[in-house]
Amino acid sequence: QEQHAWSGRFSEPVSELVKKYTASVNFDLRLAEFDIEGSLAHATMLHKAGVLSDADLAAIRRGMADILSEIRAGEFDWRVDLEDVHMNIERRLTDKIGDAGKRLHTGRSRNDQVATDIRLWLRAQIDAIVPLIGELKTSLLDLADEHADTVMPGFTHLQVAQPVTFGHHMLAYVEMLSRDAERMGDCRRRVNRLPLGAAALAGTTFPIDRHYTAELLGFDDVCHNSLDAVSDRDFAIEFTAAASLVMVHLSRLSEELILWMSPRVGFIDIADRFCTGSSIMPQKKNPDVPELVRGKSGRVVGHLMALITLMKAQPLAYNKDNQEDKEPLFDTVDTLIDTLRIYADMMRGITVKPEAMRAAVLQGFATATDLADYLVKKGLPFRDSHEVVALAVRHAEGQGVDLADLSLSVLQGFSALIAEDVYVVLTPEGSLAQRDHVGGTAPAQVRAAIARHRQLLG
Ligand code: ARG
Repeated sequence: QEQHAWSGRFSEPVSELVKKYTASVNFDLRLAEFDIEGSLAHATMLHKAGVLSDADLAAIRRGMADILSEIRAGEFDWRVDLEDVHMNIERRLTDKIGDAGKRLHTGRSRNDQVATDIRLWLRAQIDAIVPLIGELKTSLLDLADEHADTVMPGFTHLQVAQPVTFGHHMLAYVEMLSRDAERMGDCRRRVNRLPLGAAALAGTTFPIDRHYTAELLGFDDVCHNSLDAVSDRDFAIEFTAAASLVMVHLSRLSEELILWMSPRVGFIDIADRFCTGSSIMPQKKNPDVPELVRGKSGRVVGHLMALITLMKAQPLAYNKDNQEDKEPLFDTVDTLIDTLRIYADMMRGITVKPEAMRAAVLQGFATATDLADYLVKKGLPFRDSHEVVALAVRHAEGQGVDLADLSLSVLQGFSALIAEDVYVVLTPEGSLAQRDHVGGTAPAQVRAAIARHRQLLG
């Protein structure tokens, strides 16, 4: 039977079931490199404070370098009976270098150690995620650029509302993703603080220099209360909330892609490499990737619920409950990174079908508001012009034609204010061109917005 770090206190070993139940090494081993980084900074600080000798620090550095290469080579023997990544590495160090390894944990607890590891790990993940959001934005901007003039129906209530450009529609998602990247960066500021030094919960009796450890690890500051330092996981909740929003945004886009690709709509096609067929229906080409993104958004939102519920009734300070923070957080990061990668590639493989989009605009009386605005500019109060246009739409619908197909004399039957120049505003292009203000769908504004985003992306 393996001797535990705390076996002195106990009269019997834990049962096999409890061992398995309490162990986290199967999943927290992914923190290994960050655990070593944190330990080396801690040891360097202890040495500077006169707590560790030159020889001990040198031995720890040498031992950790060996362990790091064993881990990277896949040769490290992770032992479930040693519970977690921290105890596995510490035991291996002690096996290699003896007493110096046993001195590493001076003035430290696994409670501040694990909180530090997660922050180091999450910081690195955020630094990988933000550029991936940027890449996706770039692929959306490329598509927007290509289709800055492409007319499509804008919808409300999934009913044709007013003409927009496909570029403008893509830019809506670029705006969402820009806020997402901003949120990630904002969250990073609160992730980037050092818990080490809090020890188990109350700090330590050793003459530690927390600011020095923070500096070594690239943290902007220390956590200022030891109880909070070991028990805070709101940085993880905040990250998962930001990740949930990215997934929700991509789930909305996925829903649209699925709809647009349906043969009943036919606005786009998605490259074959992102679709699958049916084992029974030979004609099928299914949008699996967007469907899975929509599905996986539920999974990430679920992780957010798991983490926030995990925290809700925990008394201060550290409780073992917190070990449950890792799997939801890890899976959130994995899902988000895979989704962002696949999405950037998938958007480059979208074929837009402008004829189908334009036909849908023409069938939907999408320029009715333009006619109403036209009459207002000729002096009619908006409510009256709304009424006039509604009657004209009813008439056109009865005839099975668009507003632009009605003759001038028919249109003038609805309002004497209507003149030949009305046809400019009744075309989708005329409608678009008139929405020429910041945030509007006029192609010139779409191009300006693309340029602005490209410049921000650098
Ligand atoms: N594996 C633990 C976790 O993930 C490390 C901290 C354990 N501390 C303790 N006192 N049991 O939270």
